[in-house]
Amino acid sequence: MKSSTKLHSLCSVLMASLFAYSASVQLNDPDWYFWFPLYACACVVNMVNWAISSTTTIMHVARVSLLLGLFLFIKVVIEDFVNEIAGFWSLNLSERVVREKIGSGLVVISLILQLEASLVPEDPMRKKKRDSTKFFDYGMAILVGFSFGLPFVFFVVQQGEMKF
Ligand SMILES: *[C@@H]1O[C@H](CO)[C@@H](O)[C@H](O)[C@H]1NC(C)=O
Repeated sequence: MKSSTKLHSLCSVLMASLFAYSASVQLNDPDWYFWFPLYACACVVNMVNWAISSTTTIMHVARVSLLLGLFLFIKVVIEDFVNEIAGFWSLNLSERVVREKIGSGLVVISLILQLEASLVPEDPMRKKKRDSTKFFDYGMAILVGFSFGLPFVFFVVQQGEMKF
């Protein structure tokens, strides 16, 4: 088991809860069989991120989910482009393709950060992770800020509504 910083643990728990929520609202989606496993796996990997190492199943789960996330991200970006819905940079959460683009994008970034952070070797002198983990911790903190901030601004501040 690897040590991780408090910031890393806090960010992981927050991302895990966001992905758990996202998984729970997929079940009435027509293509839930893609999205439910994606969010469920992303949730599990964030919950047990301390267990990621080259020998564990969780590492494989993280890698397979990362590929699924990339595939779905590319799929929705193409769908958006072909149907001229919102544009690549759009953050308009009214549109399903934009919600799915951001959701899969967050899964991909969070899994990359978890996998990279797990590869940082421990410092044998101090029995804790080297300072380079700070880089991944700050990355996670920014990701958490964006993930919770964007829906807050869109739905609460701007009173945006969902279009299905
Ligand atoms: C977001 O999308 C909705 C639905 O297509 C649209 O009515 C709204 O004007 C868009 N908002 C912005 C800020 O573009």
